[in-house]
Amino acid sequence: MTCDRIVILTGAGLSAESGVPTFRDAGGIWAKYDYRDVATPQGFARNPAQVHEFYNMRRNAHASVRPNAAHEALARLEQSYPGEVWVVTQNVDALHEGAGSRNLIHMHGELFRALCGACEKSRPWHEDIGIETPCPACGKKGAMRPDVVWFGEMPYHMERIRELLERADLFISIGTSGNVYPAAGFVAEARANGAHTVELNLEPSEGRSLFAEAIHGKATAVVPAYVDHLLVGK
Ligand code: OAD
Repeated sequence: MTCDRIVILTGAGLSAESGVPTFRDAGGIWAKYDYRDVATPQGFARNPAQVHEFYNMRRNAHASVRPNAAHEALARLEQSYPGEVWVVTQNVDALHEGAGSRNLIHMHGELFRALCGACEKSRPWHEDIGIETPCPACGKKGAMRPDVVWFGEMPYHMERIRELLERADLFISIGTSGNVYPAAGFVAEARANGAHTVELNLEPSEGRSLFAEAIHGKATAVVPAYVDHLLVGK
């Protein structure tokens, strides 16, 4: 198999072994919180303090997590592969860039950025956000929010992602349950454009039947092994 352009979609399972909880596994984030309260524009309008508390808690918890062997393997692939490698992540953590990935798209935003709903400026952000936090750019209070994509909002960089999917000859999906669109539809798009498609996940995802190939196991085991296989094949 000759692959000049690889697109890799990642989800919460990739960061699980760094100590970041997934969403839909037993004991995951959506078992403890109702997404309608903390991850929708309507929830934010109803109770902004509750939404800030949820993301402040996650931001603080993420401050001490480190990339694992799977993030490191993907960064190694980008650096060593003779073709083009892009990671499109649904994760809001900073573990891909922490491991050294540079061709990276955060389609669901970033926990360590804040967005002003008034002037729409996004900026790096490591502190707590509260309902009185002023925007450093326009000075307005009460409009700051985490720069993450909520349910009902359009994910970021979709045009660029579609271009990458059109040109990809290998599409790899890692650590995602395949429940959330548009990301869950990328495999079908890549396949329709002629890409070979591979799932690397702890267990068969919702979309397993859409992939030409699947390898199931923990990300820190299967991802470095698959990266080695790609690098040896070149
Ligand atoms: P999910 O929690 O839905 O799925 C995580 C997947 O990772 C599951 O299929 C697990 O089996 C798998 N998994 C768990 N541990 C793993 C490990 N150690 N190695 C490999 N795989 C493992 O998370 P996502 O699919 O990322 O969006 O969720 C997608 C989106 O839904 C998130 O970006 C978030 C969420 O609601 C928003 O908040 C908008």
